[in-house]
Amino acid sequence: MKTLLVYYSRTDVTKKIAEIIQEKLNCDIEEITDNNRYKGAIGYLKGGMNAAMRRTSEINPISKNPSDYDLVIIGTPVWASNMATPIYTYLMKYNKEIKKMASFCTCIRGGYDSALENISEVTGKKPVTTMFLTSKDIENPQEKINTFITNIK
Ligand SMILES: Cc1cc2nc3c(=O)[nH]c(=O)nc-3n(C[C@H](O)[C@H](O)[C@H](O)COP(=O)(O)O)c2cc1C
Repeated sequence: MKTLLVYYSRTDVTKKIAEIIQEKLNCDIEEITDNNRYKGAIGYLKGGMNAAMRRTSEINPISKNPSDYDLVIIGTPVWASNMATPIYTYLMKYNKEIKKMASFCTCIRGGYDSALENISEVTGKKPVTTMFLTSKDIENPQEKINTFITNIK
């Protein structure tokens, strides 16, 4: 199964998890970037507002076409109990090109269920599987990642 992992990460937590999954699945990976639009304290506030209000914002051009893949894995930090704005933006642009979808999110401790639900809603697809990692899980994510990968295969 040809798989693409698409993720956004503001402070590299989601990035670390994405890279572990990518290595285990040996799949293609695309990081969504936006020239640090949400950096720092002001960026945090802006991100929270935009995510809560479901606004899109500009992202850099992508290099991999999601329609070339059987499965697209979406990885996002939780922002205000939602997906991060750059991932929302990506999905608003490309959701029609996604065939099958799996999703995961990282967060401090809550809002993951609604964030994952919102990804399903925006893509109009039931995920093959999902995973959330809280701050506690991040210290030792292997077990959850292994289950996620088993469910994908
Ligand atoms: C704008 C903003 C809103 C956030 N909202 C939540 C939240 O609702 N619940 C939560 O547990 N963590 C929240 N967080 C924390 C991040 O989800 C968490 O630190 C995440 O693992 C960061 O991932 P990253 O390093 O890949 O950006 C928020 C962070 C930001 C920047």
